[in-house]
Amino acid sequence: MKIAVLAGDGIGPEITEQAVRVLKALATDGLRIEMEQAPVGGAGVDAAGDPLPEGTVRLAEQSDAILFGAVGGPKYDTLARPQRPEQGLLRLRKHFDLFANLRPAIVYEELAHASTLKPEVVAGLDLLILRELTGDIYFGQPRGVRVNEAGEREGFDTMRYTEPEIRRIAHSAFLAARKRARRVCSVDKANVLETTQFWRDVVTDVHKEYGDVELTHMYVDNAAMQLVRNPKQFDVIVTGNMFGDILSDEASMLTGSIGMLPSASLNAKNFGLYEPIHGSAPDIAGKGVANPLATILSAAMLLRYSLNQEEAALRVEKAVRGVLAQGLRTADIAEPGKRTVGTREMGDAVLALL
Ligand code: IPM
Ligand code: MG
Repeated sequence: MKIAVLAGDGIGPEITEQAVRVLKALATDGLRIEMEQAPVGGAGVDAAGDPLPEGTVRLAEQSDAILFGAVGGPKYDTLARPQRPEQGLLRLRKHFDLFANLRPAIVYEELAHASTLKPEVVAGLDLLILRELTGDIYFGQPRGVRVNEAGEREGFDTMRYTEPEIRRIAHSAFLAARKRARRVCSVDKANVLETTQFWRDVVTDVHKEYGDVELTHMYVDNAAMQLVRNPKQFDVIVTGNMFGDILSDEASMLTGSIGMLPSASLNAKNFGLYEPIHGSAPDIAGKGVANPLATILSAAMLLRYSLNQEEAALRVEKAVRGVLAQGLRTADIAEPGKRTVGTREMGDAVLALL
């Protein structure tokens, strides 16, 4: 099995390095995994003048999965849009049709205090945000800046979803819920937006095939509020690309740190891109203090979904729980009386438990 490792920018290389060590440790335990690195994002611009160099796409095409770090940084903020690091990620999502983005938000008992919410509100939280990742206003055409009939400049984007796009993500949501508490909440803005009224209608129709799963609907503004009021009411939240982007960042903070949250972006063949949901954090890049656990947990998701290695995935997740129980904390989840460690030391501790 082959994994394309695209570390990217900022803290990307430091955190993926730790996940790679974890995968290598499993490999010496009998799992046959080959890994190869390629540049993406700003690193792709530096290496080949393109945030998604051709060689990187080719490597990914020859692989069973992509382990992704993070992209972006101040150095690249002034580039024209096609050259921006984020385009590397968006093009990968589109190229491989990675429409189903799984963003679990789990509160580890040891970290309930690290949340800005009261521990009793978040303790035991286990929520899955399923974000549609290849449609919506992110990719809708036309878009741009133009001069309108009144001679004024105006910016515009297009929100659109086709029925097949909604159907397949709805199926993913109901199937995911079957492995969990069998409750799906579909989030939209059907009171205002045509596209999302259509989303609601199609999700409702797909639900007819899943009588064993409960379906509710919620407007996105209410969902944003309910997530901080009583997040434990949710099991699976399914939503579009734009709302999912926002709600998943919000959900991450329920868990105490965005540095803990992994994600998987899958296509219909379970080929996937696995990345921490946090960004490249240029402010702490190169300092060796970033939390590698979200990336290590992303590697666990990679083992589970793309390599079909459930046992290895559980081993990694258990090791992560273990280091938290041992009291090890990176700066983002620091706690009085607990030992604050750097990126590599956190990786060492996970390896030791593996
Ligand atoms: C995310 C990020 C990306 C997105 C950016 C980096 C393009 O915020 O994965 O949530 O908006 O999808
Ligand atoms: Mg985001």
